[in-house]
Amino acid sequence: MTKTSKISGFYRKSISERIDIVKEFANLDDKDIELLKKEGPLNHELADKMIENLISTMPLPLGIATNFLINGKDYLIPMAIEETSVVAAASNAAKMCRAGGGIHSVATDSIMIGQVQLTKVKDPYYAKMTILSEKEKILEIANEQDPVLVKFGGGAKDIEVRVINTLTGPMVITHLLVDTKDAMGANAVNTMAEAVASYIEKITSGKVYLRILSNLADRRSVRARALIPKEALAKEGISGEEVVDGIIEAYSFAAADPYRAATHNKGIMNGVDAVVIATGNDWRAIEAGAHSYASRFGKYEPLTIWEKTEKGDLVGVLEMPMAVGIIGGATKVHPMAQLALKILGIKTAKELAEVIGAVGLAQNLAAIRALATEGIQRGHMSLHAKNIAIMAGATGDLIDLVAERLVKERKIRIDRAKEILEELKKKGK
Ligand code: MEV
Repeated sequence: MTKTSKISGFYRKSISERIDIVKEFANLDDKDIELLKKEGPLNHELADKMIENLISTMPLPLGIATNFLINGKDYLIPMAIEETSVVAAASNAAKMCRAGGGIHSVATDSIMIGQVQLTKVKDPYYAKMTILSEKEKILEIANEQDPVLVKFGGGAKDIEVRVINTLTGPMVITHLLVDTKDAMGANAVNTMAEAVASYIEKITSGKVYLRILSNLADRRSVRARALIPKEALAKEGISGEEVVDGIIEAYSFAAADPYRAATHNKGIMNGVDAVVIATGNDWRAIEAGAHSYASRFGKYEPLTIWEKTEKGDLVGVLEMPMAVGIIGGATKVHPMAQLALKILGIKTAKELAEVIGAVGLAQNLAAIRALATEGIQRGHMSLHAKNIAIMAGATGDLIDLVAERLVKERKIRIDRAKEILEELKKKGK
């Protein structure tokens, strides 16, 4: 019989039945099944309620970044990430920022944008005026959808209307500006955008198609800044002054070249995403917001700026959208996300946004300081070597022994790891 992925009612089956189907399809063995059935902190019964067609969960390493002093408060920062060196680099950069009084971070109110796309209007500018003149009624309809949010001081606060030219003609785009308070707010905003659509159609005689939140959350952003004394940046054999100059050159490169800016921002997102994931937030939304914000002036730019003060110290500023919540969605359901918030001691979504902005800034500092001096490979090497040792079959104490030899020989390769492992085993290690 030929294999087919066309399976009706897969979602209605139990987790066990789904696993059986996948086992058959992909020729899985008993070990594979045992792995799929193994439960972690997010048990399968709960996970099955979060997504469709669940067969297992996919754990990531969770580490703690230390040394963070943000707005005068000490934080231990949970980071969920698979990449070597990120947690260590963040902790190291946070220590340097501490030497200058820590990181100052300010988030705006939690204003999200819901878009309503109006098409097929003969007179788009007249339609725009009509919509604006009906603002109070539109806000009223929106706010009827979420009395709880309104009770807590949130809800739809204002509208903006833009006429845009598109391939299919002019469109009138209404932005519903919604304060979602401690929620990320996608559900609330989407419900509101859907609710006001028919009223907008009625008053303009146009046709609404899309009604959805915008991930370019530029009304919900964070600004983090740090002053780092040059002495705190010095490395063996490299003075603080030289490091500051190297960092400014690295920033200038990113500011001038989108190819570099993409990697510069990737480094920022290493820190940002790790905390976003650890707290159960939507990292795709954060990524979409970050990169659209980075190109909002028509050219892709770095999300941080680095400057030298008159005294020769370093100052850095990060500015980016930060639509994160502490209630609702996975943040509420995932026990690890709840625990991450507890470790952070976070009380509001605004505070979480401020912490994440600070981590992004520190992560960027660590990356460009390393790049502008010794490069990042040295720092990466020892953990990378351990991974290679494991891949070569090393277990227990042998992992460190093989890794140490690989680093010493500067040959972090699996073939060499296997040879060393054989050698060590022969010696009875
Ligand atoms: C690697 O994950 C991140 C870096 O490439 C960031 C950067 O280049 O700035 C080191």
